[in-house]
Amino acid sequence: MRKQIAAANWKMNLSLQQAEELIKALIESNITLGENQLALFGVPFPYILPIKQLLDGKQNLFVTAQNCSANANGAFTGETSAEMLQSIGLKYVIIGHSERREYNYETSAELAKKVNLALDHKLQPVFCCGEALTVREADEQNEYVKVQLMESLFHLEAGQMKNFIIAYEPIWAIGTGKTASSEQAQEMHAHIRSVMASQYGKDIADSISILYGGSVKAANAAEIFGKPDVDGGLVGGASLVATEFAAIIKALK
Ligand code: PGA
Repeated sequence: MRKQIAAANWKMNLSLQQAEELIKALIESNITLGENQLALFGVPFPYILPIKQLLDGKQNLFVTAQNCSANANGAFTGETSAEMLQSIGLKYVIIGHSERREYNYETSAELAKKVNLALDHKLQPVFCCGEALTVREADEQNEYVKVQLMESLFHLEAGQMKNFIIAYEPIWAIGTGKTASSEQAQEMHAHIRSVMASQYGKDIADSISILYGGSVKAANAAEIFGKPDVDGGLVGGASLVATEFAAIIKALK
């Protein structure tokens, strides 16, 4: 069975002290994860090592980076390479979040390079896709997301796609309190899985964890995660509150 994942995306929030308190509170809340379940913490770069230290040895709890560079190394001031993330023991990296696509002008071609570098360095990408409100209103979301997947992932081989992680995050639902209905999430997740099946076959598509993101909170997580093609969530705002995120983890299948 594919992995069920609760991934926190802290974005640019919290001081180190607040971050450590949050993780300690979560650990103390005795969340138990099944063999098939994972919790990921997408923390700001300066906190990767201290938070990783708190999580090391805890079963199925891992730190993830929020981004990596599209370049291998060199004169790119302020950037962090996939190789660096590997060298400090990371296993995951979020790639292509809509905020980075929007504010940092990340293109599909650039994201394909990041995915390649991540995989070269044994980092599993959490690859984000999702449409803006105008696209949804024009009922073009299926084609739009398909193109995002084709442009950044379809060059990969089937073996690289096994157990991959994709996060579907409709931009109109991020940080807005406006969640996609569980039916809308299921419909898009099934579409994503069929797009991946068309390229890689059903077995590989069935091994991919597809997370929903956009205003997931304790109150709606179980309903959304309950859908057959929803394998957990990528969570922003609610992941900054220990009790909320603990409840979201508990809502995993
Ligand atoms: P949100 O953010 O949960 O605050 O809507 C989700 C995300 O951007 O990953």
